[in-house]
Parts: sequence; C-alpha cells; structure tokens
Amino acid sequence: MTTMESLIGLVNRIQRACTMLGDYGGGDNAFSSLWEALPSVAVVGGQSSGKSSVLESVVGRDFLPRGSGIVTRRPLVLQLHKTEDGSQEYAEFLHLPKRRFTDFSMVRKEIQDETDRVTGKTKQISPIPIHLSIYSPNVVNLTLIDLPGLTKVAVEGQPDTIVEDIESMVRSYVEKPNSVILAISPANQDIATSDAMKLAREVDPTGTVHLLSSVVKLYILCRKLSSNLILSYKLIERTVAGERTFGVLTKLDLMDKGTNALDVLEGRSYRLQHPWVGIVNRSQADINRNIDMIVARRKEREYFATSPDYGHLAGKMGSEYLAKLLSKHLESVIRSRIPSITSLINKSIEELESEMDHLGRPIAVDAGAQLYTILELCRAFDRIFKEHLDGGRPGGDR
Ligand code: GDP
Ligand code: NA
Ligand code: MG
Repeated sequence: MTTMESLIGLVNRIQRACTMLGDYGGGDNAFSSLWEALPSVAVVGGQSSGKSSVLESVVGRDFLPRGSGIVTRRPLVLQLHKTEDGSQEYAEFLHLPKRRFTDFSMVRKEIQDETDRVTGKTKQISPIPIHLSIYSPNVVNLTLIDLPGLTKVAVEGQPDTIVEDIESMVRSYVEKPNSVILAISPANQDIATSDAMKLAREVDPTGTVHLLSSVVKLYILCRKLSSNLILSYKLIERTVAGERTFGVLTKLDLMDKGTNALDVLEGRSYRLQHPWVGIVNRSQADINRNIDMIVARRKEREYFATSPDYGHLAGKMGSEYLAKLLSKHLESVIRSRIPSITSLINKSIEELESEMDHLGRPIAVDAGAQLYTILELCRAFDRIFKEHLDGGRPGGDR
C-alpha cells in the first residue's frame, strides 16, 4: 500500500541516515541538500515559553527535560513513528542504536547526559543535534525539532555571544523553505514582544503577497498609489506572517483574571494563514506533583470544553488537535514537494552510486553500510514518489 504515512516514514529514515553520515544541514554535498529538502517541524520560542512541554503533549509521553532557565541546550530531532495498535511503545537514540528504551524517564536522563557529553555540565549550547525516535501506536507520523530557547541576555557561565549563537542556530533550522515553524508564545506575555513571532515574521514573510486584498492590488496596478495605500500595504505586511508558521499560544491558564486571548486565537492581533492553537500544559506545580500526561491531556480538554471564553473553539484547541493538524500539514508539504525532492534524490542516487564505485572495497564498514542504506532508501523513496505522480496507484500505469 502506498500511503502518505509510509512517505513520512521514509523521509524520517532518510533524514536519520543522512545524519549518521554527519550531515545535518551544515555540509555542502548531495546529502545536505537532500536533508534541506526534507520537511520537518522546528519548535521556536523564548526561553520557558513552553516548547518542551508542547512537544511532550504532542507525543503524549513524559520524556523531555523541562523547567526554568536554559534546559534545552542541543537541538533534539524527534522522529515519531506510528506503529500498529497494541504494539509496545519504545524509544531509540541514534547514538545508541542497540538500546531500546521502554522507560521514558531513562530517555529524559539520556538526553541530559548526552547534552552534557558535548557541552559539559554548563549553560552552554551546541549545534550538534541529538536524534531520538519514538515508536508508538499513539503518535502521528511527524518529525519535530526541539531547539534552545531564544533569549535576550547571557547568564552567569555563558559566553557573551550566547544570545546571537542561539538565534543563529534556531535561524538555521527555520530558514529552510521546507521547514514548518511551530512558533510558541506564552499567553501571559504581550504577543507583540514574542521572540517566536519576531523570528517567524522575518524568515517567513511570503504570505503577505497572497493576503494583499485584490482591491489593493488593483489600485497598485492602476498606479493610483497614494501614500495612504503604501501605508496600509506596510501595515498588512507587518501583521501577516507566511504560510509556514503555526502559531501556538501556551499558558492560557496563567492569564490575568478577567482577560482572555481571543484576539490572538481568532487571528485579530496577529494574522497567520493557519489557525492559532491554544494550549494548556502542565504547570511547574503539576510537574512537581507528578501529574501524568494522560491526566494532563484530560484536564486540558476539560479546560477548553468548560471555558466561558474558549468553549466555542474547543474542537480546535489543545495538544491533540495540534498534533493532527501538524501531521496533516506535513503530509501536504511532502506531497507538494514530491517533484523537487525526486529530482534531488535522483541526483543523490547517481552521486551515491559513483561514490560507491570509487570507494570500492577499502572503506570503513560503517560508512559503507550507511551509504548503502541511503542508496536503498532513496530508491524506495523514488519508487513511491513515482507511484504518487502516477495518480497514487501502486505501480501505476506506465
Ligand atoms: P521551554 O523552555 O520553552 O522548553 O519551556 P518548558 O516546557 O520547559 O516550560 C517552562 C515552564 O513553564 C515549566 O515549569 C512548565 O511547567 C511551565 N509551563 C509550560 N506551559 C505551561 C502552561 O500552559 N501552563 C502553565 N501553568 N505552565 C506552563
Ligand atoms: Na526552559
Ligand atoms: Mg525546552
């Protein structure tokens, strides 16, 4: 069966294989351009805005280090693989290929330890990603990247360049035209000051053109450009972000009594092409009391269902809805990129084959095996893409 599920799965496997060869966007060869072409979802926001909490809710498991201050110090590339109903949930790190984690508190510990292995027990950051795969019947197929939080000042123990270092690291992920930006802003801060939205607007401004009203376009065509029109064009440009950004508003439960976030959630404060999603994650007190994920998700559902402010939006709020929305979007992005990814893959296959020919026998076993894996995956990918182009029929008419 040729399903989109298997396409996302294949994208996941190629991304992993590319990373094993040391390419995660930094290099300059066939694999890095392939990596760039593969879509993923990057989670962006200020420190403690709730990024890691949102990721955990989307996955439905407790497995990430969370808390105040700088906790996420290396990118975490998280690949979710949906498995058959009833199968056991487990996690696997790329750097520990032989070990299956079924205890998710050990996953959290390994993320912390593996972070420290590169950065030491400091407040420093490193751009080298940690790769984690979760296999579970309860997830949707999705690749998410947790990133260090944007910040405004260096703290004790951090180099002065940390603010720019974090920003350029985050930017390198969200700049990719194929990346989906999950922009996290806390509801208890003014959206106008949101680091996530500031960056999203910068790297993803393409939506402005689509959203210019046809009336304005007509006026522009007729050269009846008054300074007023220029002004309104600029206003639109400033308040609309593009098509790659999903706005997420966390901490709705922490807003001042008597206020609500309807202006944001209904797109009046900050218009996006995709709908905003409101989230209620666990508070620090909940975490300290070990409130588990299932209970937290139920509480979140109840929060929206019974909220006098958000009740009418309840079906389109919360982490479970967000997970489905993202998976559906990622599928459609892959679908729309099929021709360009296919041509890249064909190029990669050629390069890989000639590289294998050149290398011949005396190459490191691991590198050879990895090249071979990528080659096999690319071929599988190419085959499935072609089937899609033929109208989605497996082995379609040729
Ligand atoms: P990150 O730094 O952006 O990854 O943020 P974390 O996910 O680590 O969360 C930072 C702190 O905010 C933690 O103590 C969370 O419990 C808390 N937090 C995150 N989201 C919410 C929320 O929706 N409501 C409440 N009350 N607390 C939240
Ligand atoms: Na944090
Ligand atoms: Mg974090």
